[in-house]
Amino acid sequence: MRLLPVVVTVLLTVGFAYYVYIPLPDEIQEPWKLMMLDAGIRTVVRLISLKDYLGLDPYIKSIQPYTEAMMGRLLSSDSGGGVIPGVKVSEITFAGIPVLVYEPPAGGEGHLRRGLIYFHGGGWAFGSAKMWSYDTMTRKLSDELNAVVVSVEYRLYPEVHFPVPYLDCLAAAKHFLSKEVLAKYAIDPERVAVSGDSAGGNLAAAVAQAISTDDTMSVKFSVQALIYPVLQALDFNTPSYLQNQEVPLLHRTQMVCLWLQYLGVDLSLMPQFLANNHSSLQQSAITSALRARLDWTSLLPPKRKKSYKPVIVEKGLQGLVKEVPSLLDVRAAPLLAGAEVLAKCPRTYIITCENDVLRDDGLMYAQRLQDAGVTVTNDHYEDGFHGCFMKWPIEFDVGERGIRAYLNWLQNNL
Ligand SMILES: *[C@@H]1O[C@H](CO)[C@@H](O)[C@H](O)[C@H]1NC(C)=O
Repeated sequence: MRLLPVVVTVLLTVGFAYYVYIPLPDEIQEPWKLMMLDAGIRTVVRLISLKDYLGLDPYIKSIQPYTEAMMGRLLSSDSGGGVIPGVKVSEITFAGIPVLVYEPPAGGEGHLRRGLIYFHGGGWAFGSAKMWSYDTMTRKLSDELNAVVVSVEYRLYPEVHFPVPYLDCLAAAKHFLSKEVLAKYAIDPERVAVSGDSAGGNLAAAVAQAISTDDTMSVKFSVQALIYPVLQALDFNTPSYLQNQEVPLLHRTQMVCLWLQYLGVDLSLMPQFLANNHSSLQQSAITSALRARLDWTSLLPPKRKKSYKPVIVEKGLQGLVKEVPSLLDVRAAPLLAGAEVLAKCPRTYIITCENDVLRDDGLMYAQRLQDAGVTVTNDHYEDGFHGCFMKWPIEFDVGERGIRAYLNWLQNNL
């Protein structure tokens, strides 16, 4: 029978295509690459769930090595990676927080260098400064910008919740900005940036606000550069949350789940959060002034609002904000900061992606900073999606363009 192999091949191909295929927005270029990556991640998550179901490991603890493997090999601690030979990497601690310090090859003698502190993404639960994707980028930043780059290994869920990751990042940032450390590394105090992606963008925005408003800090950041940051947890029905709820690599339910974990909220409340019941009008602690700070009906341009309607619930989850005050804490949700705080923030670069649930978080923050008088550059990628800047085993053209633009902006503004 010569037909059998043909039939088997056809069936396998159809089955494979069925497993991999997901409908994606038309704007996404290289859709099959994204589908393959998404299928790879789904497979890993399923295998882990199975392992978890069999009771082998707690979920997150067991997922971490897989995600790291998926995102590429870890930096080997002694070889220095070798991608850009001139950049020197040291694993040390800043105020007790583990950090990687990247020092550029160009000599410090007489020449002050730039500084940049970076917080990696991963939903406050995954990731590491040592991951191939981050290590490659921070090396490049150090080399091309002639900058001393500090990549912070803050603690993650489930070991810790909010505010610990934030406090780790703030402590490392304050140490970096101290006169002694800047002098030691020959860094120009007028040219220090704070940056991060996704949850790291959240931490970068929150740390930038804290430093900007702290009168005891004589050196402040001169720029902040936020890559698809996550900035608020009161409205999970913004147009971008609704439009992109099923778009990889970050589904709406996953983002809500990461928020609940970070803030220490019981995951059984997820349906209520998805329905915006947690921010119902009944919650008197959410004043109208606070609501205005994330009112997308006035903060987004018509092009992004499309025909979406705000989801505002009258009654629901009474007393929740009292139980979870971090929902209104600007250290967790920097978009909720008042205009007087935003006005003190440094020059800002914000990257947003059209096909990302977090698009509107970033767009609203860009608008509010601008309204407060801050100079803001917003690079919006119509073909971008959450996570496209990462070097996965598969890399994306939009990510390469984005990283290039990010580097150029820093080159011109830091
Ligand atoms: C939201 O709250 C309302 C009013 O309390 C309730 O009827 C509804 O079931 C809640 N929605 C969800 C998804 O729990």
